[in-house]
Amino acid sequence: MTRPPFPEGWYRLAAARDVPRGAVVTRRLAGRELVMFRTEQGRLTVSGAHCPHLGAHLGHGGRVLGETLRCPFHGFRYATDGVCVATEYADPTPPRACLEVWPSREVAEQVLVFVGTRDGAPRWALEPPCLDGFTRPRWVTLALAGHVEDAAENGVDLGHFAAVHHYANVRDAEIHVDGPVLHSRFGFDRASPFGAAFGTISSVFDTDIHGLGFSVTDLTVRELDLHCVIVLMCAPIDEGHFDFTILLASDRARPAPVTTLGRVLALAPARAVFERFLLRRIVGDVLQDREIWAHKTHVERPLLAAGDGPIGLFRNWTKQFYGQ
Ligand code: FES
Ligand SMILES: [Fe+2]
Repeated sequence: MTRPPFPEGWYRLAAARDVPRGAVVTRRLAGRELVMFRTEQGRLTVSGAHCPHLGAHLGHGGRVLGETLRCPFHGFRYATDGVCVATEYADPTPPRACLEVWPSREVAEQVLVFVGTRDGAPRWALEPPCLDGFTRPRWVTLALAGHVEDAAENGVDLGHFAAVHHYANVRDAEIHVDGPVLHSRFGFDRASPFGAAFGTISSVFDTDIHGLGFSVTDLTVRELDLHCVIVLMCAPIDEGHFDFTILLASDRARPAPVTTLGRVLALAPARAVFERFLLRRIVGDVLQDREIWAHKTHVERPLLAAGDGPIGLFRNWTKQFYGQ
């Protein structure tokens, strides 16, 4: 059986700043064309791109008027819940003209939408990361080939950490499942990001994976006095292609740093430089996986070995996102 390309879940569609007030923006997700529009009062709506009247593309000439979106073809106007509230004819509005509105949320300056395999209503609410006391998030989006499940599985594939990423001494792995959320925690050592001459650093990754499209990692690195949140967002664009967004914010409210580096990084300009550097390093890690994700096949009954980590448990957990 081939895997469905678009499992249920919350997926990133855009950065919130891509859709300022009054804007209508087109994006692809899950093999569909979607439009986002933000009203003059700031409400964001995500809907199917085509007008239910006679099929015009709302992203090509659609305009925000007050709290509505106006279709460019015959001027029907849609409210943020998708209901047609006015036409430019004298007749009453057609009672069944309604945009196909997708559930959406703005989290960490990103727009996420729920892709459903059932009736379209979100099966679970998205838990936003708490970024109080953190720096403004910064992020990078990569366009990759592959399936979103493979990118999510990477986080529990402990065996590949040494083979692909050169992590050493992967330890204290803990994993448990809570409905659509999978929690994992492990520590590992690797060369300092400043080069092998600076020795090794030990990191602890503490991650909540909310479905296959949104994971939040709390990362601490003792040697760098670093505490940050990394949000990984994979969004299936079309079959075989997904966007991978890596977002990072670091904790400004750390108690007095104990290392020299920690004291330097407590200064805002140094912290900004270091965050950009760290983000590039994480992008570098993802690029190490890129070719494997692009060309791998899905082995439904993998021949697991003792060092693989909890892949069997992960696979069981994913079944819910395919309606199984
Ligand atoms: S196609 Fe949109 S109003 Fe007619
Ligand atoms: Fe990886």
